[in-house]
Amino acid sequence: MSKVTVVGAGFVGATTAQRLVEKDLADVVMIDVVEGLPQGKALDMMESAPIEGFKSKIVGSNDYKDTQNSDIVVVTAGIARKPGMTRDDLVNTNAGIVGSVVTEAVKYSPKAIFVIVSNPLDVMTYLAWKKTGLDTKRVFGMAGALDSARMAYFIAEAAGCLPSEVDATVLGGHGDEMVPVPALTKVKGKSITEVLKADKIEAINQRTRDGGAEIVKYLKTGSAFYAPSSSVVRMVSAILQDKGEVIPSCVYLTGQYGLKDVYCGVPAKLGKGGVKEVVEVKLSPAEKEALQKSAEHVRENCAKLNL
Ligand code: LAC
Repeated sequence: MSKVTVVGAGFVGATTAQRLVEKDLADVVMIDVVEGLPQGKALDMMESAPIEGFKSKIVGSNDYKDTQNSDIVVVTAGIARKPGMTRDDLVNTNAGIVGSVVTEAVKYSPKAIFVIVSNPLDVMTYLAWKKTGLDTKRVFGMAGALDSARMAYFIAEAAGCLPSEVDATVLGGHGDEMVPVPALTKVKGKSITEVLKADKIEAINQRTRDGGAEIVKYLKTGSAFYAPSSSVVRMVSAILQDKGEVIPSCVYLTGQYGLKDVYCGVPAKLGKGGVKEVVEVKLSPAEKEALQKSAEHVRENCAKLNL
């Protein structure tokens, strides 16, 4: 059985851990600074095993020693935004947290693949890469999978089909300037432009950009976790099962899409070893420009941390 460490026993971390064990994808170590929290949640999950029937094990811990030899480390640690805040407002607080957890985790799992989930996502992924010193193929972030899932759901609602019948693509940074790409979005194999009117598509694009904030506004004291955890598990499963599945992910770019030395969301083939390939899809000039703008925004935020 593979071993996955989930750093952070908050809503995103614990729900990710739960989905991982319930799907029997890996044994999980959930780690948090709060004493008792990961232990209590892990024990509670194990007590559901006789009913749910999963074979995977989960333990909670406050000690990184227990994370030793993980195949994957998922980093969800950090604070979530409150209504009215942008993800960027979290940058200083979460940089301290993410910087220290990845430094600890890599000591015990120097061959792991790191999947970063903490916000602001693209900046935290760059920071994690710098701090771990790992190959860029082994450090990447979850965002495109989530943004694309949100877009797919909104399209399914509008088109009156099943969410699983929609294949949506959102690129760019995980922020207000993310880039939904309707041309790459299909409903039952058909282009969405054949299914929905242009103004409806534009409304969906905007709702997708505001998708995280819409949930924060409802919850008031936290951010989304069901769709984020599903998105992480989709990536973890692609890696562990060496599926070679193409999933929009926050990856390091070395000239693809005209972007260099920046982490940004683009389609990536995931499997054993992490990013197998950055996939370059054809974008319209407007989409290309939007992607550049979004990446520039990530760069500016990285500069605030002197990265
Ligand atoms: C969201 C947060 C997790 O998009 O960034 O819901």
